[in-house]
Amino acid sequence: MSITPTSSIPAAETAAIIVSLVLIVGKIIILFVVCRKRAEIGKTSDNTQDSRFLTLTMDKFLNDMEREKPIRFTSQQLRIATDNFTNLLGSGGFGAVYKGIFSNGTIVAVKVLYANSNKRIEEQFMAEVSTIGRLYHFNLVRLYGFCFERNLRALVYEYMKNGSLDKYLFRDHKTLGFENLHQIAVGTARGIAYLHEECQHRIIHYDIKPGNILLDGSFSPKVADFGLAKLCNRENTHITMTGGRGTPGYAAPELWMPFPITHKCDVFSFGMLLFEIIGRRRNLDISLPESQKWFPKWVWKKFESGEVGDLIIVCGIEEKDRKMAERMVKVALWCVQHRPQLRPSMSVVVKMLEGAVEIPTPINPFEYMISEIPCPALPPHASQTSSILDSDSSQMTTGSNLVHATPIMKKYEIEIA
Ligand SMILES: Nc1ncnc2c1ncn2[C@@H]1O[C@H](COP(=O)(O)OP(=O)(O)OP(=O)(O)O)[C@@H](O)[C@H]1O
Ligand SMILES: [Mg+2]
Repeated sequence: MSITPTSSIPAAETAAIIVSLVLIVGKIIILFVVCRKRAEIGKTSDNTQDSRFLTLTMDKFLNDMEREKPIRFTSQQLRIATDNFTNLLGSGGFGAVYKGIFSNGTIVAVKVLYANSNKRIEEQFMAEVSTIGRLYHFNLVRLYGFCFERNLRALVYEYMKNGSLDKYLFRDHKTLGFENLHQIAVGTARGIAYLHEECQHRIIHYDIKPGNILLDGSFSPKVADFGLAKLCNRENTHITMTGGRGTPGYAAPELWMPFPITHKCDVFSFGMLLFEIIGRRRNLDISLPESQKWFPKWVWKKFESGEVGDLIIVCGIEEKDRKMAERMVKVALWCVQHRPQLRPSMSVVVKMLEGAVEIPTPINPFEYMISEIPCPALPPHASQTSSILDSDSSQMTTGSNLVHATPIMKKYEIEIA
């Protein structure tokens, strides 16, 4: 019997199938192993990328933090940014302010300090700038940096799109409603309270007025020019009748009388600002009838005779804002008290304006005007009120804020060392 070839084919086929299967399984295993390896490699590189990303973010963060230190600019950089000081935004007691733009698109306001405010030597100047430049509060204008060169002393601030409050109080009566103005008053009070009560070393502003309240793109108020009095040698060492501090109409009486000066001088100026916010007029307007010429006195007369309602109508304040306006009137009358001790602290002012605390009935802030004595003795009930209004009266005349200038020193313009 012969063996037919057909019987040997299945054996060969079976062998071929087995070999192919082994090859396929082998390939699958190799593929699987390769894929796993690749996946593992991918994971490692992802981790590397992640950590590289984190390092980069951290670097950026640290750089940003670093950048929050005040920056020193060269006069050349500021000349380029301001297009050679062409776009003048305004000028005041310390210098002229120009609009500028840096190559990264940041818009700034550059305040070029007048020559007579350049007395400070480099180290002192930088110490002051460094203090001002490190203060951050929503209601304070940020100082980005400065320039200290022989021919140019300048401060570089963040640019405030809507300019200063005076424009909206005295010229443009349409843009801001009373509610907005109330919010501006509260924000401004918060900014000053921070300077007085929250930052490491108390800063007295000395020049609170509508021109120094700047408004950002959404009309949030930011206090400007804080720390400038010290930077420009106009603080405690410079008391004269002529070149004194502050602005007439806003400056507290102790700034031109021989009484100790404390942060309460800012409370007085804030009160004067508050009157102007309520009336949307300058406190002194000689074009008006005699009784209304000086607004604060007129407000007191109305308050005293229980006619605040009339006053509110004359000021064009709507009925819905009446309660808010009454609070503002009372706060303003407390802030401008002749005796600094009777003025509330700014944190209390914030609470009063917000309606978070009861406001005691104000006493006459202008009594001294009819009295022979320049600063009347405190009536007993007034000294009690003082402790209610003032959360930190114990600090009022302590430390470096205390300055005594005698009339003779004033006469000869002698500076206190
Ligand atoms: N950061 C800023 N952004 C936008 N405008 C500004 C800025 N700083 C100042 N200005 C504008 O420049 C004007 C002049 O400012 P400046 O501070 O020199 O004078 P002032 O506030 O009127 O007086 P003072 O010298 O007493 O502060 C301001 O009224 C305001 O309109
Ligand atoms: Mg100013």
